[in-house]
Amino acid sequence: GKGQGDLDTVELRHGSGASAQIYLFGATLTSYKTPDGVERIFVSPGAIFDGKKAIRGGVPLVFPQFGQPDKAMAQHGFARSSHWSLASLEDNAEGSTALLVLKDSEATRAVWNHAFMLEFVVSLTAASLKMTLRVKNTGDAPFTFQTLLHTYFRIPDIEQVTVRGLGGRTYLDKVKGGKEAQLGPDVELPAFTDRVYIGGKDVVSGNAAKDVTIVHKNGAAPCAICNEGFIAGVAKPIEIVVWNPYAEKSPGDLPPPAFKEFVCVEPGLIGQMKDDFVEMHELPAGADARSFRTLEILLLSTL
Ligand code: BG6
Repeated sequence: GKGQGDLDTVELRHGSGASAQIYLFGATLTSYKTPDGVERIFVSPGAIFDGKKAIRGGVPLVFPQFGQPDKAMAQHGFARSSHWSLASLEDNAEGSTALLVLKDSEATRAVWNHAFMLEFVVSLTAASLKMTLRVKNTGDAPFTFQTLLHTYFRIPDIEQVTVRGLGGRTYLDKVKGGKEAQLGPDVELPAFTDRVYIGGKDVVSGNAAKDVTIVHKNGAAPCAICNEGFIAGVAKPIEIVVWNPYAEKSPGDLPPPAFKEFVCVEPGLIGQMKDDFVEMHELPAGADARSFRTLEILLLSTL
């Protein structure tokens, strides 16, 4: 299909009433409606669909860097602002699955000189939407990388939200310069929040071996990730980011008060704490059987 800005989209539909939309630009999933017709994904009313700037909202794919450790490359890398191709679109008895692919090109090698393949699989059934991102090293030397499913969950009110499953884990507080790591309880977001839950000892010891769920306090509201009825189950052990800019840090394509209607909970591979810096994950070269990593997020329509 065609989306805003005349950009190409893939539409998934299920007989139950569930549906999803993905832009080939960035392989950005911009809509997931559960069978009750409720939209679960947030896209900013100020989002720009010019095929150049990453779409503000949905599920931008962060790769190969998180933030901008390499200043010569765009913030969060190039995957979210690259044009992907649709490799397959299949229907079976249970639902529909789309496979989108991005491979290295002259343009990507100019900013990041590695051979890679990204495969993004989106599967829609009556019960769930599953997104799987597979990162493959197709070259002949190892590389380090970071990746996230930068998911903007639509919610009625940021002040009523709790993100569960992260209690006791160490995080870097980017609001405070990103330096200190501390232990925190379940996450509430009464103000600008930018936390990076990195890998490390607590992950290995099992603290991270929990699903991460987003709970909205006002069960009476027609909420998106609400009522314990909707969870983001996250593969483990992995790293994860929780972000909401509030008005003070809202970027230009996210005019306030739009920040109230989403929370970003972003499962990813970011790195392990080593002394006081984050050491990125390394992917062996293509000949090695371990030359891929997978990241997955499962959104359940009912619990
Ligand atoms: C989050 C980061 O993942 O993405 C934040 O932790 C950042 O620091 C946010 O502000 C949005 O980034 P961008 O590049 O989409 O404006």
